[in-house]
Amino acid sequence: MKLFVSEGNPHCLKVLAALEETGVQCEVQYVSHEERVVPFLSRPALPALLLPSGLHLFSPNAICRYLFEVNGKDCGELCGQWLEWEATDLQPALLQAFHMAVLQGKGSEVSKVLQGSLNYLEQSLSKGNTPYLTGDAASVADVVLWAALYPILSDSSLALGERNYVKTWFDRGAALHSLQSAAQNVLQGKGLQGTKSYMQKQPTPQSSQCRNTQPCNSSPAECEVSERLVSEEEMEAASVTWSKALNARPSDADRQHPILPMEGKRNILVTSALPYVNNVPHLGNIIGCVLSTDVFSRYARLRDWNVLFVCGTDEYGTATENKAREEGLTPQQICDKYHAIHADIYKWFQIDFDYFGRTTTEKQTEIAQNIFWRLHKHGFLVEDTVEQLRCEKCQRFLADRFVEGICPNCSYPEARGDQCDKCGRLINAVELREPQCKVCRQTPVIRSSKHLFLDLPKLESQLEQWLDKSTSTGDWTANAKQITRSWLRDGLKPRCITRDLKWGTPVPHPDFNEKVFYVWFDAPIGYLSITANYTDKWEKWWKNPNQVELYNFMAKDNVPFHSVVFPCSLLGAQDNYTLVSHLVATEYLNYEDTKFSKSRGVGVFGDMAKDTGIPSDVWRFYLLYVRPEGQDSAFSWSDMATKNNSELLNNLGNFINRAGMFVAKFFDGCVPAMELQQEDKKLLALVGWELQQYIQLMDKVKIRDALKHILNISRHGNQYIQVNEPWRKIKGDDTERQRAGTVTGVSVNIACLLSVMLFPYMPTVSQTIRDQLNAPQTCVSTMLQGTGTFVCALCPGHRIGTVSPLFQKLEVDQIEALKKKFGGQQPEDEPPKKKTTAQKAASTEPAAVPAPAKVAVNGVDPEKAKQLTQAVAEQGEKVRTLKAQKAEKAAITAEVAKLLDLKKQLALAEGKSPEPAPQKGKKK
Ligand code: MF3
Ligand code: ZN
Repeated sequence: MKLFVSEGNPHCLKVLAALEETGVQCEVQYVSHEERVVPFLSRPALPALLLPSGLHLFSPNAICRYLFEVNGKDCGELCGQWLEWEATDLQPALLQAFHMAVLQGKGSEVSKVLQGSLNYLEQSLSKGNTPYLTGDAASVADVVLWAALYPILSDSSLALGERNYVKTWFDRGAALHSLQSAAQNVLQGKGLQGTKSYMQKQPTPQSSQCRNTQPCNSSPAECEVSERLVSEEEMEAASVTWSKALNARPSDADRQHPILPMEGKRNILVTSALPYVNNVPHLGNIIGCVLSTDVFSRYARLRDWNVLFVCGTDEYGTATENKAREEGLTPQQICDKYHAIHADIYKWFQIDFDYFGRTTTEKQTEIAQNIFWRLHKHGFLVEDTVEQLRCEKCQRFLADRFVEGICPNCSYPEARGDQCDKCGRLINAVELREPQCKVCRQTPVIRSSKHLFLDLPKLESQLEQWLDKSTSTGDWTANAKQITRSWLRDGLKPRCITRDLKWGTPVPHPDFNEKVFYVWFDAPIGYLSITANYTDKWEKWWKNPNQVELYNFMAKDNVPFHSVVFPCSLLGAQDNYTLVSHLVATEYLNYEDTKFSKSRGVGVFGDMAKDTGIPSDVWRFYLLYVRPEGQDSAFSWSDMATKNNSELLNNLGNFINRAGMFVAKFFDGCVPAMELQQEDKKLLALVGWELQQYIQLMDKVKIRDALKHILNISRHGNQYIQVNEPWRKIKGDDTERQRAGTVTGVSVNIACLLSVMLFPYMPTVSQTIRDQLNAPQTCVSTMLQGTGTFVCALCPGHRIGTVSPLFQKLEVDQIEALKKKFGGQQPEDEPPKKKTTAQKAASTEPAAVPAPAKVAVNGVDPEKAKQLTQAVAEQGEKVRTLKAQKAEKAAITAEVAKLLDLKKQLALAEGKSPEPAPQKGKKK
């Protein structure tokens, strides 16, 4: 074994400390920061550990973990969580702190950047009540965190504030010889400053504000794509790829139903949580399920995986019965009506299901009952008696939330059977005093009734075994793993799978013939039955775990049913079912600064999107841009306008349009000859790298993150055009004209690549671009091969089609009108419930006095603030372009001055202090 480290690299502190702490025998070699130790990585990755097998570990935490494991000290679950926190939460903040303290001389601001993480650590240590992070002995988590924090916490000049638990804990580590000697070797006795040579080579970290929040709140000027260094080899490799031939195979065009698993292919079964049929889905529902699934399955098809994407409406249950009562229809009529509504909405959003079915079919009954009998036969069902409220007048058992009465805890008279809105406590419906049926106001009676329960405790160890494997080999989102873990930690209890309802799949057991299956037992079986309605050979997908990988997409509230309950049903049925390999769960999407609410009329619902006049592709783009991936996010009208105008119009659309127009105008519509120079090859390498990132992220279903790399490519492209000025060179001598040709040819090929990468996100725009460029369909499958293959798909002589603009500007008044329309029904004479940010900032005004729209309150002018926000964004873009072009200093300074002035006006309009913000540190 051999450990490669470099001086000044703070990550090396960890591994050196861990090495000494564990006493593992291993040679240590110091190399320079640039040394590429791991052959297949395009960037240097240090530290790296060469294993006896010849493989490399190059994540510092994985190396530490490995060293501890070699030494017989396994990293438990808690320990694993700390390592994850260190890598995903602490590290980004630390890098920013290092950057500030070491390169910008702003040591005084470090405490601000780190306070969140340090407070979290302080809290956890105080709660944990043990001397070390995971118990009474130091684990790999302690060593990693000590080392990570060492350069900062051992520097008394930073004034980080007093945190007693952190201090006591850290002092324990700082006293260790292993840590001291690692620090001496890496930092050379220079403390934090010892990392300078390393930090200088790192890209400028984004501010934490920009990194953490979606949508990005920083002005574009503050949020630049950092320049990446490109090596000679990368450039050569990129130009070799560039001259490769196109694939013979056209992509996807030949999709033939029914799609079945195929030998020698990656067979991917993709499902989106089945939406409830009893309502119209809102944007949050759409992004959480069908839209995310659609993007991934479109991508998967481009990757030439064999994909089947199924979904359908979830139709049974109390909610449907109630909706039917509300609308005066039968449950069946409700299902038919809303199934059609859902199907229309998804069609408008271009969700490309292979099959969109429903759960109220014969196949559903057949398969659900079959699973039931198998569970029964194998002894995984238990009987128990349950007390329930029944309304004799309505002739039905009352679901908890359909009973009202006096809260047994606080005597609030209108408590619901599941929860009291006054004291917030959960209630057992039979405990309500003076209960009433919510529908007819009669007093219900208590009836006891026999029910069947799925014996989860009996399946627990099987489940855990399977989970260990699936979560470690598959791509489960962090929230999915965490929610599942917490369910298991509390221990599983038997779950009732029967209900006293009519609208459901009948329970076939003679002792329970009045009952139906509980929706959450029944609905996931819908995935199988819907597939069975698509093809008789459905078992080739669903009873074929060795050949099929199953992806389940959903919002996080659905996780436990897909990771615990449903897998238990399938495991207990013992019929070789395909269980989920990749569980992809989103967080929640909010609407502006509130929640979507049908009853309050707040938010945009699927059927309204098309009435806004904004194209389906733009909706898709924005929803995917703010996809709640990793954390909650918000839909915001003004942000949508900003992103449309800055990213789609000014960045992406502008680039593609210019590239096409140059071919049309300067070269008669034929792609000119290209002679690649260093600069072009560098661009090919940069673009190729973004493509690789895109593929890596998409393979891991990081849909929002991958989108950013598409936009980076057009940014590179705009910069390239701007610097090379083909419109000027075309008027020059032969060499200059030749140069204009190369730049145009390369640009139009990048436009072609962009069309391919955009396909999963914006299918119509993607096709439009290829039509305009008259691009061969085979370019689609070619570019997404392997780790990404950016080839010259439009060769010299290729004739393009007619070029026209792809996007339209969203105007402020248009957006304002939409915002009003969808913002909720606020009667004219009532104060708006929700204050705008600007109003909040000036809340010296008594709350009861409504602020008339469009009039300044205390100098606060929301209307103006909105316009200025947009102006700031646009000016920021301008500054950025100028900087990228490396324009005259004076020109940049002038535009920056304008930007600062706009920001000042904005602050005033928002009622904030108008002092100019301190100048952001310049890049060195
Ligand atoms: N109808 C449920 C919801 O919208 C999801 C059901 S997913 C399934 O939350 F697996 F049960 F089908
Ligand atoms: Zn009643």
